[in-house]
Amino acid sequence: MDKDAEANRRSPASSEPTIPLDDQQPLLRDEQTLRGRLRTNWYRMDRSSRLTTSLVMLILGVALLGRIFIELACPDDYWHKPHVTIPPQVDEGNDTKHSDKERRDAVRDAMRHAWSGYHKYAFGHDELLPVSNKSNDKWGGWGVTLIDALDTLYIMELYAEFNQGVAHVTEVDFSKATPGYNTPFFEMVIRSLAGLLTAYEMSLDKRLLEKAQQVGDVLMPAFNSSSGIPYPRVDVNAGTAVHASSVCLAEAGTVQLEYWKLSDLTGNPAYHQAAQRVVDILDKDEKPYKGLYPIWIDINSGKLTSGQITFGAQGDSWYEYMLKQYIYSGRTHDQYRRMYEESIDSMKQKMVKRSEFDDQMYYVGDLDSTAKKFSPKFQHLTCFVPGMLALGSKTLNRPDDLVLAKQLTYTCFQMYNQTATGLGPEYVLFRDSNNRGLLPTNHKDDFDIQDLAKADSTETSDGYYLGYDRSYILRPETAESIMILYRITGDVMYKEWGWQIFRAISKWTQTPAGFSAYRDVMSTKHESEWSDSMESFFLAETLKYLYLLFSPTDYYSLDEYVFNTEAHPFKIQRSQDRS
Ligand SMILES: *[C@@H]1O[C@H](CO)[C@@H](O)[C@H](O)[C@H]1NC(C)=O
Ligand SMILES: *[C@@H]1O[C@H](CO)[C@@H](O)[C@H](O)[C@H]1NC(C)=O
Ligand SMILES: *[C@@H]1O[C@H](CO)[C@@H](O)[C@H](O)[C@H]1NC(C)=O
Ligand SMILES: *[C@@H]1O[C@H](CO)[C@@H](O)[C@H](O)[C@H]1NC(C)=O
Repeated sequence: MDKDAEANRRSPASSEPTIPLDDQQPLLRDEQTLRGRLRTNWYRMDRSSRLTTSLVMLILGVALLGRIFIELACPDDYWHKPHVTIPPQVDEGNDTKHSDKERRDAVRDAMRHAWSGYHKYAFGHDELLPVSNKSNDKWGGWGVTLIDALDTLYIMELYAEFNQGVAHVTEVDFSKATPGYNTPFFEMVIRSLAGLLTAYEMSLDKRLLEKAQQVGDVLMPAFNSSSGIPYPRVDVNAGTAVHASSVCLAEAGTVQLEYWKLSDLTGNPAYHQAAQRVVDILDKDEKPYKGLYPIWIDINSGKLTSGQITFGAQGDSWYEYMLKQYIYSGRTHDQYRRMYEESIDSMKQKMVKRSEFDDQMYYVGDLDSTAKKFSPKFQHLTCFVPGMLALGSKTLNRPDDLVLAKQLTYTCFQMYNQTATGLGPEYVLFRDSNNRGLLPTNHKDDFDIQDLAKADSTETSDGYYLGYDRSYILRPETAESIMILYRITGDVMYKEWGWQIFRAISKWTQTPAGFSAYRDVMSTKHESEWSDSMESFFLAETLKYLYLLFSPTDYYSLDEYVFNTEAHPFKIQRSQDRS
């Protein structure tokens, strides 16, 4: 495409080689005529008019020089970007008037606020408790918030804070965890291993790569099963996996990018090989539908056992990583492309539905363990799907997927837009004209009947219900999809959506020391809804995606980076074919 554009630009010049035509010429001609006209008029003026005109010209000249000076002194991208014109709106905060730069700064301030609370009350611990100003070590005490936040700090150019974090992390001994604690393999790969890898790739501080390798190494025993399917937990102190009979799809299948990158940066292929073996096993396994994988895997045999099929919890990022490994490989590994396309084709056929009450609303539900019954539950976690579809549409030239991506992003945004706080709930339940969306009570217990039973009391306007869990725990998926959709479509509407979400987050979840999960998105009781929890993904993902939404699109470009499922941007491999 670039080549075509260049060819088009060159062709007019080549037809008239002796007269270099460019855009400037007509302008110059106009200026000459204008100047001639001014000169004639000048001598017709009386003295005071000449004086006034001179003064006006002087002022204009100074203004022009000033503008040129500012351009030179502030070589900020924003001066050169066309300004987004936003239609005036009656809005309590008048916030649609803010420029990209102001919005970006507001997100950076939020990051600084979260970091400073963490620094003050929880530094080195896993999480800040943002209401009580205490901390926890619920991930084994490696300081997961700190590690997860590093590359966000770097991207936001908060280098002093980044250096504080690096100084700490280079002293952590990752060969130890809280005694008796079994470290979750997948979580620590996507958060800690990935966070250290990207912090290294950005800063090129070798100590960070050493630490990344240490984390990668202490987690490697997870793969030590008879099939090669990883165990879900590792006893880091003992150096062995914790025995288990099954593991879920997302836990086994969302570690590949990280171990691949570790192999690439260390030159040791063993990491990538162990992770790749998992993909090969699952690729060959029998499935209820082509490309759709039940969420449970038997670790001994490597077979997919029963379980729901879902693009939400426990399934989600397995599908995401098919596409992302294909992108990471410089689009060379066709296995991932095939697997991704199989999955998306089946998902579209079996799992996507349209609301019967709002033509614009589409959603992705779940399938039960028989893979026949459909559940109309749409999870916040599943809101990563539109971003994935948009990225896949661009990468694999699948235009229909972009249409669906826009429809699903709309639903995800409405899940925020239609609540009392403007925050989005953990999930919603769509109703249909027959049973109002509630599953028959004799339904298999694959689905959370409690969720469904409590649903009908809180119907919202667009034909879905809120369920039992109405919390917003600072999750990133909707912001993630909005950012990707903006970058791929260029539609500024997505910036407005992202800004609206950011404002709701600031308004309802900001505490004196950080940001807190909110118990009920339909309640405006503010402080009393805070549940005193700030997961590391708020700093790693939610704020990063919002910041990138308001940044120039070539800043951490989707053509150069692939974001792991925790929003850590990995530099894409350069394939020989493309260079
Ligand atoms: C919004 O802008 C209008 C006029 O531009 C102003 O009168 C009003 O006070 C502003 N409201 C807030 C909440 O800032
Ligand atoms: C927590 O810290 C913030 C800021 O340092 C302070 O304003 C707030 O009162 C503290 N809360 C508690 C419960 O100590
Ligand atoms: C791997 O498993 C074998 C037997 O299943 C065991 O003997 C060995 O110690 C394990 N190694 C690690 C690093 O866990
Ligand atoms: C958000 O919801 C309000 C009604 O609560 C509606 O007027 C508005 O158009 C919605 N915004 C968008 C962007 O859909």
